[in-house]
Amino acid sequence: MSGCEGYSAIARVYDRLNAEIDYAAWADFVERCFDRFLPRRPELVLDLACGTGSMTLQLAARGYDMIAVDGSAEMLSEAYGRAVDTPGILFLQQDMREFELYGTVGAVTCCLDSLNYLLAPDDLLRTFRCVHNYLDPDGLFLFDMNTPYKFQNVYGNNAYILEDELVWDEGEETEERAAVFCGWQNTFHPDTGLCEFDLSLFEEMPDGNYRRSDEHQTERCYLLTEIKQALADAGLELLGVWSDFSFAEPTDVTERWYFAARAKK
Ligand SMILES: C[S@@+](CC[C@H](N)C(=O)[O-])C[C@H]1O[C@@H](n2cnc3c(N)ncnc32)[C@H](O)[C@@H]1O
Repeated sequence: MSGCEGYSAIARVYDRLNAEIDYAAWADFVERCFDRFLPRRPELVLDLACGTGSMTLQLAARGYDMIAVDGSAEMLSEAYGRAVDTPGILFLQQDMREFELYGTVGAVTCCLDSLNYLLAPDDLLRTFRCVHNYLDPDGLFLFDMNTPYKFQNVYGNNAYILEDELVWDEGEETEERAAVFCGWQNTFHPDTGLCEFDLSLFEEMPDGNYRRSDEHQTERCYLLTEIKQALADAGLELLGVWSDFSFAEPTDVTERWYFAARAKK
Protein backbone atom coordinates (compact mmCIF):
# COMPACT_ATOMS: atom_id res chain seq x y z
CA MET A 1 0.00 0.00 0.00
CA SER A 2 1.47 3.35 -0.99
CA GLY A 3 -1.09 5.59 0.75
CA CYS A 4 -2.18 7.36 -2.45
CA GLU A 5 -4.90 4.89 -3.48
CA GLY A 6 -7.54 6.87 -1.59
CA TYR A 7 -6.73 10.05 -3.53
CA SER A 8 -8.55 9.55 -6.84
CA ALA A 9 -12.07 10.98 -7.03
CA ILE A 10 -11.52 13.11 -3.94
CA ALA A 11 -8.80 15.10 -5.76
CA ARG A 12 -11.50 17.03 -7.68
CA VAL A 13 -13.05 18.39 -4.49
CA TYR A 14 -10.13 18.16 -2.05
CA ASP A 15 -9.51 21.90 -1.81
CA ARG A 16 -13.18 22.70 -1.25
CA LEU A 17 -13.40 20.15 1.57
CA ASN A 18 -10.21 21.48 3.20
CA ALA A 19 -10.97 25.17 2.78
CA GLU A 20 -10.55 25.83 6.50
CA ILE A 21 -6.80 25.04 6.43
CA ASP A 22 -4.93 28.35 6.54
CA TYR A 23 -1.95 27.67 4.26
CA ALA A 24 -0.88 31.34 4.29
CA ALA A 25 -0.46 31.14 8.08
CA TRP A 26 1.26 27.77 7.69
CA ALA A 27 3.70 29.23 5.13
CA ASP A 28 4.38 32.13 7.54
CA PHE A 29 5.30 29.49 10.14
CA VAL A 30 7.54 27.71 7.62
CA GLU A 31 9.40 30.97 6.99
CA ARG A 32 9.73 31.63 10.73
CA CYS A 33 11.31 28.17 11.02
CA PHE A 34 13.70 29.04 8.16
CA ASP A 35 14.73 32.19 10.02
CA ARG A 36 15.07 30.39 13.33
CA PHE A 37 16.99 27.31 12.19
CA LEU A 38 18.86 28.16 8.97
CA PRO A 39 21.70 30.66 8.48
CA ARG A 40 19.82 31.96 5.42
CA ARG A 41 16.52 31.18 3.71
CA PRO A 42 16.76 28.28 1.22
CA GLU A 43 16.55 28.84 -2.53
CA LEU A 44 15.18 25.42 -3.45
CA VAL A 45 12.44 23.69 -1.42
CA LEU A 46 10.79 20.29 -1.85
CA ASP A 47 7.12 19.97 -0.91
CA LEU A 48 6.77 16.25 -0.25
CA ALA A 49 3.31 14.68 -0.66
CA CYS A 50 2.27 18.05 -2.08
CA GLY A 51 -1.30 16.95 -2.84
CA THR A 52 -3.07 19.71 -4.78
CA GLY A 53 -0.12 22.03 -4.17
CA SER A 54 -1.45 24.41 -1.52
CA MET A 55 1.89 24.76 0.31
CA THR A 56 3.85 24.50 -2.95
CA LEU A 57 2.01 27.52 -4.36
CA GLN A 58 2.31 29.52 -1.14
CA LEU A 59 6.08 29.07 -1.12
CA ALA A 60 6.46 29.62 -4.88
CA ALA A 61 4.61 32.94 -4.49
CA ARG A 62 7.16 33.92 -1.83
CA GLY A 63 10.04 33.39 -4.26
CA TYR A 64 11.28 29.87 -3.50
CA ASP A 65 12.12 27.50 -6.35
CA MET A 66 9.84 24.53 -5.80
CA ILE A 67 9.87 20.81 -6.44
CA ALA A 68 6.60 19.06 -5.60
CA VAL A 69 6.31 15.29 -5.21
CA ASP A 70 3.16 13.23 -4.73
CA GLY A 71 2.17 9.65 -5.46
CA SER A 72 -1.33 10.43 -6.72
CA ALA A 73 -1.66 11.38 -10.40
CA GLU A 74 -5.07 12.91 -9.68
CA MET A 75 -3.80 15.15 -6.86
CA LEU A 76 -0.79 16.21 -8.97
CA SER A 77 -3.09 16.98 -11.88
CA GLU A 78 -5.07 19.39 -9.66
CA ALA A 79 -1.81 20.94 -8.43
CA TYR A 80 -0.56 21.33 -12.00
CA GLY A 81 -3.82 23.03 -13.00
CA ARG A 82 -3.55 25.48 -10.10
CA ALA A 83 0.04 26.31 -11.05
CA VAL A 84 -0.60 27.50 -14.64
CA ASP A 85 0.25 31.07 -13.66
CA THR A 86 3.26 29.98 -11.60
CA PRO A 87 5.72 28.51 -14.11
CA GLY A 88 8.85 26.70 -13.07
CA ILE A 89 7.53 24.29 -10.43
CA LEU A 90 8.85 20.77 -11.01
CA PHE A 91 6.05 18.28 -10.31
CA LEU A 92 7.06 14.64 -9.89
CA GLN A 93 4.84 11.61 -9.37
CA GLN A 94 6.78 9.45 -6.96
CA ASP A 95 6.32 7.37 -3.85
CA MET A 96 7.75 9.30 -0.90
CA ARG A 97 9.30 6.13 0.50
CA GLU A 98 11.71 5.96 -2.43
CA PHE A 99 11.66 9.36 -4.15
CA GLU A 100 14.63 10.56 -6.18
CA LEU A 101 15.67 14.12 -7.06
CA TYR A 102 18.40 15.50 -9.31
CA GLY A 103 20.26 17.02 -6.37
CA THR A 104 19.80 18.28 -2.84
CA VAL A 105 17.44 20.98 -1.55
CA GLY A 106 17.71 23.47 1.31
CA ALA A 107 14.43 22.48 2.96
CA VAL A 108 11.65 19.90 2.74
CA THR A 109 8.05 20.48 3.81
CA CYS A 110 5.50 17.68 4.24
CA CYS A 111 2.07 18.95 5.32
CA LEU A 112 -1.34 17.87 6.58
CA ASP A 113 -0.90 14.36 7.96
CA SER A 114 0.79 13.06 4.80
CA LEU A 115 3.26 10.99 6.81
CA ASN A 116 0.40 9.30 8.69
CA TYR A 117 -0.42 7.60 5.37
CA LEU A 118 2.74 5.52 5.83
CA LEU A 119 1.33 2.40 7.41
CA ALA A 120 4.44 0.75 8.87
CA PRO A 121 7.31 2.17 10.95
CA ASP A 122 9.74 0.94 8.31
CA ASP A 123 7.96 3.07 5.67
CA LEU A 124 8.39 6.12 7.90
CA LEU A 125 12.09 5.34 8.31
CA ARG A 126 12.56 4.84 4.55
CA THR A 127 10.90 8.20 3.88
CA PHE A 128 13.01 9.97 6.51
CA ARG A 129 16.14 8.42 4.97
CA CYS A 130 15.18 9.74 1.53
CA VAL A 131 14.57 13.19 3.03
CA HIS A 132 17.99 13.07 4.70
CA ASN A 133 19.58 11.94 1.45
CA TYR A 134 18.19 14.92 -0.52
CA LEU A 135 18.70 17.64 2.08
CA ASP A 136 21.76 19.88 2.03
CA PRO A 137 23.99 19.45 5.11
CA ASP A 138 22.05 21.13 7.96
CA GLY A 139 19.03 21.44 5.65
CA LEU A 140 15.63 21.71 7.34
CA PHE A 141 12.75 19.23 7.36
CA LEU A 142 9.36 20.60 8.46
CA PHE A 143 6.46 18.19 8.82
CA ASP A 144 3.39 17.48 10.92
CA MET A 145 1.62 14.36 12.12
CA ASN A 146 -1.72 13.60 13.73
CA THR A 147 -1.38 12.72 17.41
CA PRO A 148 -2.64 9.61 19.25
CA TYR A 149 -5.10 11.94 21.03
CA LYS A 150 -6.66 12.82 17.68
CA PHE A 151 -6.92 9.19 16.54
CA GLN A 152 -8.48 8.12 19.82
CA ASN A 153 -10.80 11.06 20.46
CA VAL A 154 -11.51 12.92 17.23
CA TYR A 155 -11.23 10.33 14.44
CA GLY A 156 -12.05 7.36 16.70
CA ASN A 157 -15.01 5.42 15.40
CA ASN A 158 -16.85 8.62 14.56
CA ALA A 159 -18.70 9.72 11.44
CA TYR A 160 -18.65 13.21 9.94
CA ILE A 161 -20.27 15.07 7.07
CA LEU A 162 -18.25 17.64 5.15
CA GLU A 163 -20.10 19.88 2.75
CA ASP A 164 -19.52 22.83 0.48
CA GLU A 165 -22.45 24.43 -1.26
CA LEU A 166 -22.49 28.21 -1.21
CA VAL A 167 -19.99 31.04 -1.44
CA TRP A 168 -20.51 34.53 -0.13
CA ASP A 169 -19.22 37.29 -2.33
CA GLU A 170 -17.95 40.58 -0.99
CA GLY A 171 -21.33 42.25 -1.39
CA GLU A 172 -22.74 39.61 0.95
CA GLU A 173 -24.93 38.15 -1.75
CA THR A 174 -24.84 34.43 -2.21
CA GLU A 175 -23.68 32.77 -5.34
CA GLU A 176 -24.71 29.17 -5.76
CA ARG A 177 -22.33 26.59 -7.07
CA ALA A 178 -22.44 22.84 -7.49
CA ALA A 179 -22.75 21.19 -4.11
CA VAL A 180 -20.33 18.66 -2.70
CA PHE A 181 -21.08 16.43 0.28
CA CYS A 182 -18.71 13.96 1.81
CA GLY A 183 -19.79 11.31 4.31
CA TRP A 184 -16.81 10.16 6.33
CA GLN A 185 -16.86 7.05 8.55
CA ASN A 186 -13.84 6.14 10.67
CA THR A 187 -12.76 2.85 12.17
CA PHE A 188 -9.82 3.02 14.55
CA HIS A 189 -7.98 -0.18 15.50
CA PRO A 190 -6.01 0.58 18.70
CA ASP A 191 -4.20 -2.77 18.48
CA THR A 192 -2.54 -1.94 15.14
CA GLY A 193 -2.74 1.85 15.33
CA LEU A 194 -4.44 1.88 11.94
CA CYS A 195 -7.41 4.15 11.28
CA GLU A 196 -9.57 3.46 8.25
CA PHE A 197 -11.60 6.18 6.59
CA ASP A 198 -14.53 5.30 4.35
CA LEU A 199 -15.43 8.36 2.34
CA SER A 200 -18.52 8.72 0.14
CA LEU A 201 -18.50 11.77 -2.09
CA PHE A 202 -21.64 13.20 -3.65
CA GLU A 203 -21.00 15.83 -6.34
CA GLU A 204 -23.88 17.77 -7.86
CA MET A 205 -23.97 17.53 -11.67
CA PRO A 206 -25.25 20.29 -14.01
CA ASP A 207 -28.57 18.44 -14.39
CA GLY A 208 -29.07 18.43 -10.61
CA ASN A 209 -28.33 14.73 -10.19
CA TYR A 210 -25.54 13.67 -7.88
CA ARG A 211 -22.53 11.56 -8.79
CA ARG A 212 -21.33 9.25 -6.03
CA SER A 213 -17.72 8.08 -5.64
CA ASP A 214 -16.22 6.12 -2.78
CA GLU A 215 -12.68 6.28 -1.42
CA HIS A 216 -10.97 4.18 1.23
CA GLN A 217 -7.99 5.64 3.07
CA THR A 218 -5.88 4.40 5.97
CA GLU A 219 -3.69 6.42 8.33
CA ARG A 220 -1.39 5.09 11.04
CA CYS A 221 -1.16 6.52 14.52
CA TYR A 222 2.51 6.97 15.47
CA LEU A 223 3.78 7.49 19.01
CA LEU A 224 6.13 10.40 19.59
CA THR A 225 8.82 7.93 20.64
CA GLU A 226 8.50 6.08 17.29
CA ILE A 227 8.80 9.32 15.32
CA LYS A 228 11.82 10.46 17.34
CA GLN A 229 13.52 7.08 16.90
CA ALA A 230 12.94 7.08 13.13
CA LEU A 231 14.32 10.63 12.84
CA ALA A 232 17.44 9.66 14.79
CA ASP A 233 17.92 6.46 12.76
CA ALA A 234 17.71 8.48 9.53
CA GLY A 235 20.30 11.04 10.68
CA LEU A 236 17.78 13.81 11.26
CA GLU A 237 18.30 15.87 14.40
CA LEU A 238 15.03 16.88 16.05
CA LEU A 239 14.96 20.65 16.66
CA GLY A 240 11.49 20.96 18.13
CA VAL A 241 7.91 19.69 18.34
CA TRP A 242 5.06 22.18 18.70
CA SER A 243 1.29 22.19 18.82
CA ASP A 244 0.68 25.24 16.64
CA PHE A 245 2.27 27.94 14.51
CA SER A 246 3.29 29.99 17.55
CA PHE A 247 5.76 27.31 18.71
CA ALA A 248 3.55 26.36 21.70
CA GLU A 249 4.46 23.22 23.66
CA PRO A 250 2.28 20.18 22.87
CA THR A 251 -0.25 19.17 25.53
CA ASP A 252 -2.28 16.01 26.20
CA VAL A 253 -5.02 17.30 23.88
CA THR A 254 -2.86 18.45 20.99
CA GLU A 255 -4.30 17.10 17.73
CA ARG A 256 -1.38 17.80 15.40
CA TRP A 257 2.34 17.91 16.14
CA TYR A 258 4.51 20.25 14.05
CA PHE A 259 8.15 19.12 13.80
CA ALA A 260 11.42 20.67 12.69
CA ALA A 261 14.48 18.50 12.09
CA ARG A 262 17.92 19.12 10.64
CA ALA A 263 19.95 16.83 8.34
CA LYS A 264 23.18 15.86 10.06
CA LYS A 265 25.87 15.01 7.49
C1 LIG B 1 -3.85 14.72 3.34
S1 LIG B 1 -3.09 14.86 1.78
C2 LIG B 1 -2.05 16.28 2.03
C3 LIG B 1 -1.65 16.94 0.75
C4 LIG B 1 -0.90 18.26 0.90
N1 LIG B 1 0.36 18.09 1.56
C5 LIG B 1 -1.74 19.29 1.60
O1 LIG B 1 -1.26 19.95 2.53
O2 LIG B 1 -2.91 19.48 1.20
C6 LIG B 1 -1.95 13.51 1.77
C7 LIG B 1 -1.19 13.36 0.46
O3 LIG B 1 -0.19 12.37 0.65
C8 LIG B 1 -0.05 11.67 -0.57
N2 LIG B 1 0.59 10.39 -0.29
C9 LIG B 1 0.17 9.42 0.56
N3 LIG B 1 1.03 8.40 0.57
C10 LIG B 1 2.02 8.72 -0.30
C11 LIG B 1 3.22 8.07 -0.71
N4 LIG B 1 3.57 6.87 -0.23
N5 LIG B 1 4.02 8.70 -1.59
C12 LIG B 1 3.69 9.92 -2.09
N6 LIG B 1 2.56 10.57 -1.74
C13 LIG B 1 1.75 9.99 -0.84
C14 LIG B 1 -1.47 11.55 -1.12
O4 LIG B 1 -1.50 11.27 -2.49
C15 LIG B 1 -2.02 12.94 -0.75
O5 LIG B 1 -1.85 13.85 -1.80
